[in-house]
Amino acid sequence: MFIGNVEVKGLARLAPMAGISNAAYRMVARECGSALTTSEEIDATGLTRKNTKTRYDIAKYLPEEKPIALQILGANAETLVPGAQWLQDQGADIIDLNMGCPVQKITKTGRGSAMMKDVPKTAKILEAMRAVLTVPFTIKIRSGWDEKHLNAVEVAKMAEDVGVDAITVHPRTRTQQFSGLSKWDMITQVVDAVNIPVTGNGDVKSMSDAKRMAAETGVESVMIGRGAMGKPWVFDETFEDLSPEEKYDYQTRVINRHTELIIELFPEHVGLIQMQKHLSWYAGGRDRVRQFRVELFGADTYEETRAIFDRYWASVDPSMSEQPNMAAV
Ligand SMILES: Cc1cc2nc3c(=O)[nH]c(=O)nc-3n(C[C@H](O)[C@H](O)[C@H](O)COP(=O)(O)O)c2cc1C
Repeated sequence: MFIGNVEVKGLARLAPMAGISNAAYRMVARECGSALTTSEEIDATGLTRKNTKTRYDIAKYLPEEKPIALQILGANAETLVPGAQWLQDQGADIIDLNMGCPVQKITKTGRGSAMMKDVPKTAKILEAMRAVLTVPFTIKIRSGWDEKHLNAVEVAKMAEDVGVDAITVHPRTRTQQFSGLSKWDMITQVVDAVNIPVTGNGDVKSMSDAKRMAAETGVESVMIGRGAMGKPWVFDETFEDLSPEEKYDYQTRVINRHTELIIELFPEHVGLIQMQKHLSWYAGGRDRVRQFRVELFGADTYEETRAIFDRYWASVDPSMSEQPNMAAV
C-alpha cells in the first residue's frame, strides 16, 4: 500500500500509543516487522511554544525508523499548521492528525475525537494543514462521538475532499473509550465510501486477526495497539512457528535490544519508567509475575532494574512462552 509516495511494506503496523510508542519501542516493533511506525500524539501547542520536552523528547525518532509518521494533536489551525510544519521540517515522512483521542482533558479543549463533532470547522483546519504540507497527510478517527453521532463516513469523505492521503479508523465511539468490541463493519463502510487508502484498527491481537480484518473489511493496512504491548513479535509471522526455546531466545534478543535503546535514548529518570513498564509486560503470563513486578517497580536505577529482570528471566520456564492479552493486564 502507498500513502502518497510512501510505501507501507507489510500488512500490520504499530498503532500510536501515548507513553508507549516512543522511538525505542517503535524501533523494536519495526525490527520485528511493523510495516511503518507512528509516533505517539505530539501536542501542537507544545510544539509552537517551543516546549523542549514536546519538541525534542516526544517528537524524537531514529534515522533507521524512516519512513516515519509523526502524529500531531491540536484543536485549531493557529497551532496545528505551524506545529505540523515543524514536524515536517524535522523529517517526518507522513503527518498524521489525531482525531480519535477520547480522554476528557483532551476532548474538552476540542482536540482528539472532539474534532469529529464539528465537521465544517474541522474541514477548514484540515485544508489549512494540507496547504502547507508537502509530505503525505493522514488522519486517525473513531466511528463517531457517540452512538447517536456515527459520522466516520462523513468525516472520511470530507477528508478525502480536502486532500488527505489516507485514513485510519478505530471503530469505537468516543463514549465507548476502549470498552466493548470494535465494530469492524464501520471500517468497511469507510473503505466503500472513499478512494484513498484506509487502515483498520481495533482488537487485532495477531497476524491472523490482521488478515481476517483485511479480508472482512477490504483494508490493505492494519494497526495493532494493545495487542503489541509486551509483544512486539506480534508483527513477525514466523514467530508462531518457533519452538518454545526458540521463542524464548527471540524474546530475549528483543528485550535486550529494547533496554539498550531505552538507555541510549532517555535520561535515567525518564527511561526507568519506560524500562520497568515494558519489562513488566514482557513477563506477562509467566510464573511468579506478581512478585517479580513488585520487586521490579521498587528498583531505583537502570542497573538494578535490569539485574532484577535478568534474575527473573533466567528462572522462568521457556515453554511458557505464550503470553495472555496484555490489554487485560
Ligand atoms: C495507552 C494508550 C495510548 C494511546 N495513545 C494514542 C495516541 O497517542 N494516538 C492515537 O492516535 N491513538 C492512541 N491510542 C489508541 C490506539 O492507537 C488504538 O487506536 C486503540 O488502542 C485501538 O487499537 P487496539 O485494539 O489494537 O489497541 C492509545 C491507546 C492506548 C491503549
